[in-house]
Amino acid sequence: MLTGATESALLPVYAQLPVRPVRGEGSWLIDEAGQRWLDAYGGHAVAATGHCHPKVVAAIRAQAESLLFYSTALPLPIREQLATALIAHSPKPLTKVFLVNSGAEANENALHLARKLTGRQLFVSIEGGWHGRTAATLAVTDGEKYMAGARRAGLPLSKKVPWNDPAALLSTVDEQTAGVILEPVQGLQGARDLPVELLVAARKACDRTGALLIFDEVQCGVGRCGAFTAAESFGVIPDLLTLAKGLASGLPISALLTTDAVSAHIKSGDLGSTFGGGPVPCAAALATLAVLDEEHLIENANSVGEFLRRGALSLGPDKVVAVQGRGLLLGLRLRKPAVAVQTELLHHHIIVGTSSDPQVLRLMPPLSFSQAEAERLLQALAEVL
Ligand SMILES: Cc1ncc(COP(=O)(O)O)c(C=O)c1O
Repeated sequence: MLTGATESALLPVYAQLPVRPVRGEGSWLIDEAGQRWLDAYGGHAVAATGHCHPKVVAAIRAQAESLLFYSTALPLPIREQLATALIAHSPKPLTKVFLVNSGAEANENALHLARKLTGRQLFVSIEGGWHGRTAATLAVTDGEKYMAGARRAGLPLSKKVPWNDPAALLSTVDEQTAGVILEPVQGLQGARDLPVELLVAARKACDRTGALLIFDEVQCGVGRCGAFTAAESFGVIPDLLTLAKGLASGLPISALLTTDAVSAHIKSGDLGSTFGGGPVPCAAALATLAVLDEEHLIENANSVGEFLRRGALSLGPDKVVAVQGRGLLLGLRLRKPAVAVQTELLHHHIIVGTSSDPQVLRLMPPLSFSQAEAERLLQALAEVL
């Protein structure tokens, strides 16, 4: 037997923070001892409507009681309703939806379609981009550790271009390129928002060569960055766009959105998923979209995000060097190491994220995060920085 195993039956793959929640309520987690924790991490940007929003919980309960599950072998009205609502929230010409279960799976399908439609193999992606843990998504992700996984699977790695060099992107995309994949705001990189010129160049390069443009909005979509899709807030629309994390406020579901031009090439049996578009996650996603609209949560993400940005910058350049990102996906570039600040904030009962950049603290709270909650976070930051 191998040595070094812990007592847990779970594989030891996650570095975990020392908080054990048993309940959630809006922006707050309540632990075993009844202590309250302010969640500016949002369960990794998933708790879009806050923890346990009553309308989302009620929709899940009602759907579970009427039909817990049926696979994609039968049509379900709720699946159609969700697809229609997603298209109504998204910019044209995105008109068609394929529902799956996770961010990586949505990206995997987007890459698959780009290869299938172009008959080409190679992708161009952006330095610092992160797209998932399946073999194909690792091949377009940046970082030696991730690319090694794709190499072991024998997949060709994407060509990575610098995040701030539109000219390099224009010259790298050619007639061999199946697609360009990018996160408009790079989550793991510390909410680094790409220059709009890079997105414009990506659109231009794809139009010129027939490659497909893929936006991975798994983390930055669903209202987090100023519009329902980040694409809309940047004013550049891709051929394929993926959404996940916040889409159902915590139930696993993801969506691949595409255009009539792409869907004209797709026929029955080309894609598939047993669980994709299951009725309970669909109900949670429909309720999430309704709450985003009714409670104006995208506007809230913008205004509270701006309040946090200004407040963080006002702490002074000896503490906060810069703030990157959009809406409520923000990266605070600090003088102190982000991990140390994350640990100190736990003493204030506040949970925040870090990033692959050791100086950048990542904030991705529920889109319902209030100004008072933001104020509390800023006060704690002022003390620990
Ligand atoms: C931008 C981005 N793409 C893809 C993924 C993968 O999503 P999942 O973990 O749901 O497979 C993530 C997850 O963090 C992500 O942030």
